[in-house]
Amino acid sequence: MMQKTLFENENLIEPLNPAFCIGAVSGSTGKTYRAIRHDITRAKQKQNADEVHHPDEKISQIRKVLSGIDLSILELFSGNGNCTKIYADYGEVLAFEKKGIVYDSLVENVKDCMLVQCNKADSFLEFHRLIFLKQKFDVVDLDPYGFPNRFFPDIFLLIDKGILFVTMPKPYVNILNGITAAHLISYYGEQNPNEQTIIERIALWGLCHWRKVELIDSIDCKSVWRFAFAVEKVKATDYTGVSNR
Ligand SMILES: C[S@@+](CC[C@H](N)C(=O)[O-])C[C@H]1O[C@@H](n2cnc3c(N)ncnc32)[C@H](O)[C@@H]1O
Repeated sequence: MMQKTLFENENLIEPLNPAFCIGAVSGSTGKTYRAIRHDITRAKQKQNADEVHHPDEKISQIRKVLSGIDLSILELFSGNGNCTKIYADYGEVLAFEKKGIVYDSLVENVKDCMLVQCNKADSFLEFHRLIFLKQKFDVVDLDPYGFPNRFFPDIFLLIDKGILFVTMPKPYVNILNGITAAHLISYYGEQNPNEQTIIERIALWGLCHWRKVELIDSIDCKSVWRFAFAVEKVKATDYTGVSNR
């Protein structure tokens, strides 16, 4: 008999919550309201519309959390530079953007910021290179359109003491198809983790590399949360109270 996959095995995955699947169905498209809203968001993301970037909320959080002028800052999804320009007030910024047309507007928007270095590259690959080079930053910003889970736990290797800003899509307002469900189960052990579960899991991923991780700020931006974590490298012996002989 063929063995069931993880996602066919009803003991490991709950049936999809009907709340995700059932909704008012548009007569013309046959799609649920939630699916139509998702399509609209995707289209706005494609146009790089600020409406899906929440720059004001992100900027006021950055201003609230950061202080100092000589920080080293890694921004892995810069877009057209809404936050990059703000980060430049706090120190040197290494900014990454993959999409050519968006990268060009980033370069244009930060041309007067002396300490910003723009890179046109894939951040999901680049962060491995930075780890290989043993780079460290005071601030790391993860702001992809989708889930940032693939950066964990290794993103913590880039911070010995500093701040990690993370944009996290709310699982329950994003369309839950089989692929998203499988992705969330593999990272959080469940297909619909809530805010608390996600925060606790990120803190546990910090400990994988002996980083103490504390949530210092969280803002609600419609379909995403924006978290700020304080990260600090700890000695395993001190942290656990176990002395190695
Ligand atoms: C949520 S937007 C960033 C918004 C920006 N931080 C702001 O506050 O205005 C995500 C950006 O990541 C870019 N992007 C998507 N995949 C990428 C990748 N693999 N590497 C780097 N940038 C990527 C997109 O083109 C988009 O501009």
